[in-house]
Amino acid sequence: MVNKEMPLWAGKKILHEKQMDSTNVAAKRAGNEGADAGMVFWADVQTAGKGRRGRSWYSYEADNLYFTILLRPSITPDKASMLTLVMAYAVAKAVRELTGLEAQIKWPNDIVVAGKKICGILCEMKLDGTRLDYCVAGVGVNVGRQEFAEDIRDKATSLEEQLGRKIDREGLLQAILGRFERGYEEFLHCEDLSFLREEYNEWLVNQNRQVRVLEPQGEYEGVAKGITNTGELLVECVDGQVQKVYAGEVSVRGLYGYV
Ligand code: BTN
Repeated sequence: MVNKEMPLWAGKKILHEKQMDSTNVAAKRAGNEGADAGMVFWADVQTAGKGRRGRSWYSYEADNLYFTILLRPSITPDKASMLTLVMAYAVAKAVRELTGLEAQIKWPNDIVVAGKKICGILCEMKLDGTRLDYCVAGVGVNVGRQEFAEDIRDKATSLEEQLGRKIDREGLLQAILGRFERGYEEFLHCEDLSFLREEYNEWLVNQNRQVRVLEPQGEYEGVAKGITNTGELLVECVDGQVQKVYAGEVSVRGLYGYV
């Protein structure tokens, strides 16, 4: 009998090394060299971990989880940003099912436990002309992280800090890959997020909360009203107008703290 929680192709081949510059960069190098979809790059430590919007991602402690999966979806590039939400959903589901913690999602791609960030996701894509050549989905989970810089101490936490016990990183990796594989297949089938929208919105930490949207063109405030089938966040402004917020260069913040 096939165990539905175990991935079949996602992570069938895993390159696990003590140290990499960035698992996203390693996955992109392999993508350029024709590596198969589903290959996973897992590093105990990253020397140049990358975060969103050009930031770096703290990756010096070996008891966290840093990995990237290489994907070659047959979709148009405009749909690739939905992969971030597919991965966020998979991580939240895996954490909930594996640990019992009430993991939530801060749109589009942070996983939050007890109001603090435990995971960030960075998806990148490579085009071949106008065609999507490959995507990489990189995940950084604070599993046993002990050190937090002063400016993020009240915004970040780790799974072990929340649980009060050790977590097996490989078990967590497999749990995420299993849930991602199923979500990814559903996503490729319907080419939208209708299959996860209801649960994603239930787990959305921003839901019905006042948020500030920071776009390159300016800022505005409103109340978050969940995601659409294509992954945009709906924000109802004071004048009653509902804005669709597209992931990318946008940042959505709570008015009273991180969430
Ligand atoms: C964020 O800014 O929240 C996204 C952080 C993504 C970090 C992960 S760690 C594994 C993978 N490799 C990287 O260099 N970045 C991603």
